[in-house]
Amino acid sequence: MSETENLCDVIIFGGHGDLAFRKLMPALYHLTNDGYLNGQSRIITVARDNMTLEEHRGLVKKKLQEFVRPDYFDEEKFARFAAQMEVVTVDFRDTSTYEGLKALLDLHPDRDRVNYLSTSPDFFGTICKDLFEWNLITPQSRVVLEKPIGRDLQSSRAINEEVLKYFQESQIYRIDHYLGKDTVQNIMALRFSNRFFMPLWDANNIDHVQITVAESVGVEGRWGYYDDYGAMRDMIQNHLLQLLCLIAMEPPCSLDADSVRDEKVKVLRSLRPMTPADIEQKTVRAQYVQGSINGQPVPGYKEGVGVEESTTETFAALRVDIDNWRWNGVPFYIRSGKRMRQRNSEIVIQFKSIPHSIFANKGRCISSNKLVITLQPKESIKLKLMNKIPGLSEQMRLQQVDLELNAPMETSRKPEAYERLLLDVIRANPTLFMRLDEVEAAWKWADLILEGWAENIVPMKSYSAGSDGPSAAIALIERDGRSWHDES
Ligand code: BG6
Repeated sequence: MSETENLCDVIIFGGHGDLAFRKLMPALYHLTNDGYLNGQSRIITVARDNMTLEEHRGLVKKKLQEFVRPDYFDEEKFARFAAQMEVVTVDFRDTSTYEGLKALLDLHPDRDRVNYLSTSPDFFGTICKDLFEWNLITPQSRVVLEKPIGRDLQSSRAINEEVLKYFQESQIYRIDHYLGKDTVQNIMALRFSNRFFMPLWDANNIDHVQITVAESVGVEGRWGYYDDYGAMRDMIQNHLLQLLCLIAMEPPCSLDADSVRDEKVKVLRSLRPMTPADIEQKTVRAQYVQGSINGQPVPGYKEGVGVEESTTETFAALRVDIDNWRWNGVPFYIRSGKRMRQRNSEIVIQFKSIPHSIFANKGRCISSNKLVITLQPKESIKLKLMNKIPGLSEQMRLQQVDLELNAPMETSRKPEAYERLLLDVIRANPTLFMRLDEVEAAWKWADLILEGWAENIVPMKSYSAGSDGPSAAIALIERDGRSWHDES
């Protein structure tokens, strides 16, 4: 690394919050130790609480020991990382409290600056305005906005318009951490570096697509946020739609940021808007009630968070149609939920059945081919093919086998999504971040469903914690003569 390569000040607003400790600090710790972040860079935590640098370092150390795998934590490495830390107190409600931050940043006025807003979106506009008024925005400044950006199109527009008063669109990095996951990036590699899939990737050959992001965890102390958002705003509008875009997009003309984002936004604009009748037939929303996970009793959502009345969905399932030539008549079934039986995120591309089976009249069942991309808990890619069972039996016997496309075993540590994304911001590469028009197109489509739900077009269902979700979600896909993929 040259003396100035990846040299920057990373400023984390909300730096004593859950995301900062759980994801951002561990990511920066690894980037520093793996030599991706220049050793002269500073990691400046901006927090509301008043803490000395020594207290702050002690707190970060404790959190890293909690969130970094024990074999990757080491005192010497931590000491190097700690030397890069700074902490300042700012009260985002009081514009006069930026003095400490200004003094620190003015020490290196020409350095690249990554302003990471890990705060409630309510503060995004105010922080940008304050940075501007304190003269802390330079041409080398970038700003990272954590999701969710707003609760709907209108509020998202208001926030973006505010931020755009002070930063150019090219300086804004809207993060969706799913795009930083290695397997998610591999979707593009798989689709656009193999000729094999190209002629098969359309309505002539694909029957339908399933996207599932199931979590066994609940809202984990984030109730204040979650109850106001729910599964649709927290997961579907961003993570699941982004996955859908990567599966459905046309090949971009290059890997540069705008080419990729142009293709994704076309998919978002092709999502068929849902009418009230569609909302009734093609969407399911549900909240979990008490149950058990791994033999442990789990309280229902309302009891767990201590509210008697909550109409927030912790599960959503939808049939999504894409109105363009490639995907005409190919449904995308998507679902996501908390407190499900197991953590499991996967994308299933179900191919059509063969046009004529020479095995059928002998009672041989031919399963259609499937490409199964598993993101979590264990990343894998499997192509399900029919194969002959070896042997001398008179009638040919077939079975479905998995062709596994797993990456070669790596000896080194696999980077987390936030490492990839933070490094991309440091390198000023916006390809994996959402452009304004993408966010707006996603909200425009999601808003119709949220409005329909607010009017109770579809009743709220329930499901037991530790189950596979409400039976209505099973009925949603079965009505079309299909079923959710399940290998467990
Ligand atoms: C976040 C959501 O964006 O993604 C959380 O706000 C969710 O509610 C999380 O738990 C899931 O991320 P991952 O990487 O654990 O699948």
